[in-house]
Amino acid sequence: MKHKVAVIGAGNVGASAALFLAERALADVTLIDRPEMEGMPQGKALDMQQAAPIWNKGGRIEGASDLAAVKGSDVVVMTAGFPRKPGMSRTDLLKANADIVRPAAEAVKRHAPNAYVVVVTNPLDVMAHLFWKVSGFPKSRVMGMAGILDSARMRAFIAMELGVSGADVDAMVLGGHGDSMVPLPRFTTVNGIPITELLPADRVAAISERTRGGGAEIVKLLKTGSAYYAPAMSAVEMVEAILTDQKRLVPCSVLLEGEYGMKDLFIGVPIVLGGKGVEKIIRLELSADELAALQKSGKDVADSIAELNVAV
Ligand code: NAI
Ligand code: 2OP
Repeated sequence: MKHKVAVIGAGNVGASAALFLAERALADVTLIDRPEMEGMPQGKALDMQQAAPIWNKGGRIEGASDLAAVKGSDVVVMTAGFPRKPGMSRTDLLKANADIVRPAAEAVKRHAPNAYVVVVTNPLDVMAHLFWKVSGFPKSRVMGMAGILDSARMRAFIAMELGVSGADVDAMVLGGHGDSMVPLPRFTTVNGIPITELLPADRVAAISERTRGGGAEIVKLLKTGSAYYAPAMSAVEMVEAILTDQKRLVPCSVLLEGEYGMKDLFIGVPIVLGGKGVEKIIRLELSADELAALQKSGKDVADSIAELNVAV
């Protein structure tokens, strides 16, 4: 049976994700934006549909301006939302994006009650939490995309430094998608060789620091927005893992209920991602320092959740 994926938000991340999904011919894709943007998602979808004959794959791509178009989706990718703008406080951003996520979660609950949901909207861990809460979906069906992106950034920086293929680099970045994310050099290897065997400690530390600032580095270069190619590709990796039951072991933001000494919050940890969504949370034996860093990141996410509850 042909799958359907709905992408909510036809901006930079959403449109790129729709294109990558269509190119992989994983599913029919519906690209949805808000009613005021009527014509924009339809135009982008038609443009992609016209590209399809060139890469010689089937599949329908359509645009829509109504959240009801998520109807019947197997997977929903939630990208609608604002990036933080100059003069906007964290609380303003939390509230503005919560006002977008809440109706989207209600629409998905009503029209696609069996869907798996990949949340991309920032602040990521809090918005994934909010989507899960409003939808009432089981925790296995709602997850946030950040760890795959942050790990891919670390992999790219290591590949650039060593002059090797990024495909041979494995990296693991856990925690919230923010300044306190936790790159784990101890779990980072190049084709099985620990990174600590290949680079001096100061270079490993510098790469971890650059990874933490990976999103901000791109914002500074672009000046008018944030990264979208790597974020979209990361979200599509998650969609593919679900639709084709790949059982990928990847870091994603999921609801913790005691794992790593935290509960009632979404944060990035290693999971097994497959046809049943979040199939398992992997419990790594972290060192005392690594665990403390992860729990500090969890505290930052919990503070944002408390802030949102106060703000809305
Ligand atoms: P963008 O501004 O290019 O696109 C956002 C789109 O959402 C716009 O087309 C807008 O019209 C649409 N939208 C707003 N309200 C809507 C609603 N109620 N229903 C449907 N569509 C609506 O922004 P971009 O670059 O695509 O980023 C989107 C979000 O993803 C932001 O919150 C950004 O911070 C976040 N992000 C998260 C990443 C992560 O690692 N989790 C990485 C990159 C971006
Ligand atoms: C990023 O990491 C802005 O969260 C976005 O690029």
